[in-house]
Parts: sequence; C-alpha cells; structure tokens
Amino acid sequence: MKIERPRGTRDFTPEEMQKRNFIRNKIEEVYGKFNYLEIAIPTFEHIELFSLKSGNDIRESMYVFRDKGDRELCLRPEATASVCRMFANDMRTAQKPLKFYYYAPMFRYERPQKGRYREFWQSGIELIGPKNCESDAEVIAAAYTALKNLNLEFELEIGHLGVLRGLLNDLGISGEKQDELLNAVDKKDVTRLENLVEHGVIFDVLELKGTKEGSKEILGKAENLLNDYPDAILALSELKEILLMLDIMGVDYVIDLGVARGLEYYTGVVFEMRVQSLGAQCQIAGGGRYDKLIGLFDGPPTPAVGFAFGFDRVMDAIEVQNIKIPENEVDFVIAVVDHSVRKNALKIASKLREKFIVDFDLMNRKIGKVIEYANSINAKFVIVIGPREIAENKVSVRDMKTKEQKTVKISEIENLLTK
Ligand code: HAM
Repeated sequence: MKIERPRGTRDFTPEEMQKRNFIRNKIEEVYGKFNYLEIAIPTFEHIELFSLKSGNDIRESMYVFRDKGDRELCLRPEATASVCRMFANDMRTAQKPLKFYYYAPMFRYERPQKGRYREFWQSGIELIGPKNCESDAEVIAAAYTALKNLNLEFELEIGHLGVLRGLLNDLGISGEKQDELLNAVDKKDVTRLENLVEHGVIFDVLELKGTKEGSKEILGKAENLLNDYPDAILALSELKEILLMLDIMGVDYVIDLGVARGLEYYTGVVFEMRVQSLGAQCQIAGGGRYDKLIGLFDGPPTPAVGFAFGFDRVMDAIEVQNIKIPENEVDFVIAVVDHSVRKNALKIASKLREKFIVDFDLMNRKIGKVIEYANSINAKFVIVIGPREIAENKVSVRDMKTKEQKTVKISEIENLLTK
C-alpha cells in the first residue's frame, strides 16, 4: 500500500538537511554572540494557551485534537505563548533578563503553497524582563545581523503598535474593535478598514513609510498628525529612540507605521523582514514587543520582546539569491580488492575515524565503481586495500582532485590530510 505524506508536510534529504543545518548554525552563531541560550518547548499544548490572545488567524489555523483523557490540545502554531507559559509557571524568580532562542517545527492548518506549509520551522529569540529601547533594538539587531551573516539581501520594516493602539485609544476605539481594525491593517484590507473607521488621521498615519535616510521627514510628519493624541505621541518618541539605537548599531531599516502583525499580543515596537523576490510568501520574519502576554498566563506582569524567522523561507531566499553553501565532504572512502584483507581494512577505517570522516565501501564494488561513488559523495581520497600492499604495511591511495594514485605507508595515511 502506497502512503502519501500529509498535505503541507515535507521530507528532507541528507543534502537538504546538511544545508539547513549549516544555515541554522550560522543564525544561532549570531544568537550566541548576543548571549541567547537555547530552550525547547513541547510540540503540543493546552488549547487555551493560544485561544486566549494569539489572534484569530492563528486560532483558526490550529491543529486541535482530544487526547485519551478528553483534554483539548493543539500542535503549537508558534513558540511565543509557550515561552511565556514556561516563564510564568517555572521561571518567574529567575535572574533577568532571560534570553532564549529556539529552533522548532510549528503547525498551522493553512492552504499549502510555495513558502507556506502546514509543518514549518521557526528559529527565533525571546527576551524576557527588560522594558526599554535598548532591548527592542537588541532583538531587532540580532535578527538583522543573523541575516547579514548569511549574506542575504532583505528589507527590514519597523513600526510601533503603541502608535496605532495609542491613536485608537485616544479616538475612543478599544478592545475587540481595535484588534479587528489592526487585523484589517495587517491584511492591508482597505475596504474592511473603511467600513470599520471614518477617522482620516488613521489612514494618513498608516501611509507613513520611508527609508532610514528619510526617517526625519517621516517622523516629523507623524508628529504633526498625532499632535492631539498623547498616547500615540508617547509611543512615537519611543520608536524614535529605538531607531536612533539601531542607527548606532549599523542596522538599515524602513519605517512603516502600517506594520500591524497578525498576532494580537503585541503592544510596542513591531517589525517584519521581507525578501521581495520570494513572491507572495515574502515575509521571512516577524516580531515585536508583547508586554501583557505573561500576565495573561497568571505570571507576574513582565515585559518581553522577540521575533521568529520562518526558517523555510530563509532557505528559499538563500536559494533564490544563489548563496553558496559548502557541500558535505568525506575524507576517505575505503575499498578492498580482495576479501582476505577485509579485516585489515576495517582496522584501518576504525583508526582513521578517530580523526576523519571515513566511508567504508559496503557494497563490495569494483574499484572503478567505488571511485564513481567517491566522486558522488565529494570524497577527498579513495584508499584501496589489497593483499600485496598489506604484506608491505602499505595501501594504495587515489587523490580524487588530482586523480593521482600512489602507495602510502599505513602509518602515514593521516598525513595526507593533516599536512
Ligand atoms: P508569525 O509572523 O506568525 O510570528 O511567524 C513568524 C514567521 O514564520 C513568518 O514571518 C513566516 O516567515 C513564518 N511562517 C508563518 N507561517 C508559516 C507557514 N505556514 N509556512 C512557512 N512559514 C511560515 C510568530 O509566530 C511570532 N511568534 C513571532 C514572535 C516571536 N513574536 C515575538 N516573538
């Protein structure tokens, strides 16, 4: 019986995993430079963790099921809520700041297409404890530096939900209507937006967008528009301070006051990263400040900020931008020409494996075929072991790059690579 993979899931070959792990390590190398440490969270959670405040889109796309104890559970659609739960339940007295990173598959029941899967990986960080502009800037800089470390070209868009929420509060629009409105902003659904509000100032603010070079002008315009709305002005000055810090840290960005994010828990700075050439699914990262989520899970009110890369989209961007990833390399392939020396060959392989990557020919092929195989796995040397060589404590070695063949003493094989 042939069984297909579930829709929206993928298998990864060793070659793909090698590339994915290389990129994952490069990203985590940067997290490490900022001293973030890895955590792990469960694959499934109680549904309430996400139904409380994660936003309609996520809730509707969750994989929900009942276990044998009739508990309603779901596969995690994202990690931020789990990290808040972990902190609220078990780490509330820990020394702050808490600086976490994770790499894990997430599950969302969405219509699969290029760059959109039902099982996809996120690589992200969460910074719990401090509430200041340095922390916001640090998290954004970590995301930015991680992508720079991959030589990727991308756009970073920064907004501030405090500006939008502040303006809406000052206009007397709050609660669910505010969430609904921000959802329409996130979807860029102008018709829905126009049906929800009439205040022209909202539309003017949402249009404010421009590069770092034009930031003074954009922020000036925002200030003029928001002059009568004190909550919004306060948030705007915070955004200014964050941008100033990013300037110092050498981060390039676009200001976009229309960044609203699909999740409802954000309270302050928000940002998204895009690689336009990816087409419809070009958003490769999203994040921001969420100061009220931990409190929602009965934790002591604790501010936090973080982001997540859509790791699969980062991989797509690497491919689209033709960024080279070093191939897997094998040091030695060992082949025997006669069964009588197989044990000698095994012994040589074991010794070499103390230092090198050694592939032993398990298919008992003719030497010509072993060389073809060695070529296909990117091997540096093929060691051919025969009775005559063994009698002299030697082996025959083929350099796969130069195609030269020579006889080498067994004790000197490792000099081929350590010299
Ligand atoms: P999010 O924007 O929902 O934010 O997801 C983060 C990233 O995951 C997106 O920018 C996108 O690249 C990727 N992504 C989302 N859905 C899919 C999918 N179906 N297939 C492939 N990639 C996808 C969050 O999840 C927040 N927890 C981020 C965060 C962390 N905020 C604060 N801390």
